[in-house]
Amino acid sequence: MTALERHTLCLQLQVIFRFAEREDLPKLEWYGKYTHFRRVFERTYEEQLRGLRLMLLADVNGFPIGQIFIQLERYEDSWRAMGKHAYLYSLRVMDAFQRQGLGSALLREAEAILRERRYASVSIAAAKENSAARRLYERHGFCVIAEDAGRWSYEDHQGVMHYVNEPCWILEKTLR
Ligand SMILES: CC(C)(COP(=O)(O)OP(=O)(O)OC[C@H]1O[C@@H](n2cnc3c(N)ncnc32)[C@H](O)[C@@H]1OP(=O)(O)O)[C@@H](O)C(=O)NCCC(=O)NCCS
Repeated sequence: MTALERHTLCLQLQVIFRFAEREDLPKLEWYGKYTHFRRVFERTYEEQLRGLRLMLLADVNGFPIGQIFIQLERYEDSWRAMGKHAYLYSLRVMDAFQRQGLGSALLREAEAILRERRYASVSIAAAKENSAARRLYERHGFCVIAEDAGRWSYEDHQGVMHYVNEPCWILEKTLR
């Protein structure tokens, strides 16, 4: 092989969509990229055990290369009147696996789970500066219904509070 030649190997990977288990939590940190969310993952997992949230993972060989979290049933009156509503968030795919349909597949899986549980509608937020995410959601039938200041906070792995200010679009989709 000369310096200019590159040998290639095509890999076929089986991706399993499943809910997180406790031993997945350290792996969700993706080798340091999301260590600051350690407590968020732990709390979300506890809420999954209580039936309040779901942590849906795209698993390859026991490692979560993608994820989407689902907050089940939000209690805003306007939504309640129309049926059960869920909120999708933290959709992410490891860089090396992006642009191969995995983000779309996670969205489809999340929607299928909610349809099975007879949810009427689902929403998701896209940061205003993240046009790719908005494009993805609109392709999946979500429509912008509102904008939001996108202010939220979290406690990192060292107990330090972080305040996020990320203006976003709120998109919604009817499931029935
Ligand atoms: C947003 C995100 C989850 C999308 O994940 P993904 O796996 O790349 O999503 P998909 O592959 O389904 O779609 C992404 C693009 O790849 C394209 N694509 C899908 N399959 C493809 C394939 N086999 N070959 C080439 N392109 C493909 C899609 O058409 C889409 O194109 P577009 O950007 O022009 O609309 C991912 O980019 C990510 O993790 N980003 C960082 C976190 C983030 O921004 N999350 C959203 C929070 S609001």
